[in-house]
Amino acid sequence: MTDPVPGPPVPGDGVAPDAPADPVHLPGKPTSASRTTLSHIMTANDTNLLGTVHGGVIMKLVDDAAGAVAGRHSGGPAVTASMDEMVFLEPVRVGDLVHVKAQVNWTGRSSMEVGVRVLAERWNESTPPTRVGTAYLVFAAVDGEGRPRPVPPVIPETERDRRRYQEAQIRRTHRLARRRAIRELRERRAAEGLADD
Ligand SMILES: CC(C)(COP(=O)(O)OP(=O)(O)OC[C@H]1O[C@@H](n2cnc3c(N)ncnc32)[C@H](O)[C@@H]1OP(=O)(O)O)[C@@H](O)C(=O)NCCC(=O)NCCS
Repeated sequence: MTDPVPGPPVPGDGVAPDAPADPVHLPGKPTSASRTTLSHIMTANDTNLLGTVHGGVIMKLVDDAAGAVAGRHSGGPAVTASMDEMVFLEPVRVGDLVHVKAQVNWTGRSSMEVGVRVLAERWNESTPPTRVGTAYLVFAAVDGEGRPRPVPPVIPETERDRRRYQEAQIRRTHRLARRRAIRELRERRAAEGLADD
């Protein structure tokens, strides 16, 4: 049986497998070239009304780390196009040292999926960090006018990178299918004269 998810590119490949044909062929960049970790100690300023760290604080760190990765990979400005699957696994507390680890999982023509893993450990204890969250973000590389520009294909280097690449392709397929299905539903409803209240 053939694998339904095409394999990741290998060094020398021009563009990602499902990317539309594009005259610009940029040389690939390995995952490790842009992988980044952002670390931050949580203080009382970061808490919600329950006394634990506000989810929005973590999301800001996630967006910051992912943005740095997207900028490094694409070699210029990149904007957040979407953020999905932000999962909070454990509460984060004041005094936690939070590590936000981000890498490019997949590249299209002008977009990149950045995977983020959030770990927390007590700032003054040498216990192993706990995984407290994960997120997947799509960034689009843009030019000076804010128009999408091509990105170098990411070259996964390890089996873990290759698994992440293939999983990112599954998410990409689902994102596109969901957007298309919703657009078609709206068009059908509009054609039937059904208006929102
Ligand atoms: C993201 C943005 C550049 C896309 O522009 P666009 O005119 O829709 O361009 P395209 O349709 O060609 O999309 C560009 C790429 O982004 C991807 N993309 C666009 N919107 C997306 C979304 N909501 N989710 C996932 N990917 C998306 C497209 O699939 C395409 O990928 P590809 O080139 O790899 O195939 C534009 O919508 C934008 O500037 N948004 C605001 C970004 C911003 O300000 N972010 C910070 C928010 S505070």
